[in-house]
Amino acid sequence: MKHFILLLLSLTCINSCKDSNKTTSTTNLSANFSESIANGKDIYTDFCMTCHMPDGKGVPKSFPPLANSDYLKNNRLLSIKAVKYGLSDAIEVNGETYNMPMASLGLSDAEIADVMNYITNSWGNQNSEMITVKEVSEIKP
Ligand code: HEC
Repeated sequence: MKHFILLLLSLTCINSCKDSNKTTSTTNLSANFSESIANGKDIYTDFCMTCHMPDGKGVPKSFPPLANSDYLKNNRLLSIKAVKYGLSDAIEVNGETYNMPMASLGLSDAEIADVMNYITNSWGNQNSEMITVKEVSEIKP
């Protein structure tokens, strides 16, 4: 019983700590950052993993890596755009040229924000500036 109460207390603490971590952005429609990353993980598993692989390293010469991808790191908006509308131009990722098209996966703006928050914060990638639904919705073809 004592342990149970302790567990409850610590869970309450986790939740309130999360709240105090909320981003200051008021236009952000999706849940907080960590929740978005957690949702994004499921979307990644369902829609992206077959090509970009569970470890985000892709498949050499066919599917570019997302882990430590200089393209993803340096082209925030173009990367979101690629996921939103697909990408068929040749691109260079970490010194390798990739030229197979990626189709649009038909995700909603919220799903795109979540999966982008996941991939930009996994496998050693770090992005502290949350990608919001609003940011995704403003990207046009
Ligand atoms: C059918 C295979 C396939 C699937 C599924 C797929 N991609 Fe891609 N992805 C590619 C290919 C191929 C490219 C390179 C496109 C090009 O060269 O024009 C690419 C490029 C990218 C890039 C930019 C390049 C880089 O490596 O940083 C990002 C970001 C990306 N994909 C994210 C995703 C996300 C997120 C999903 C799931 C929502 C996804 N992809 C699903 C094949 C795929």
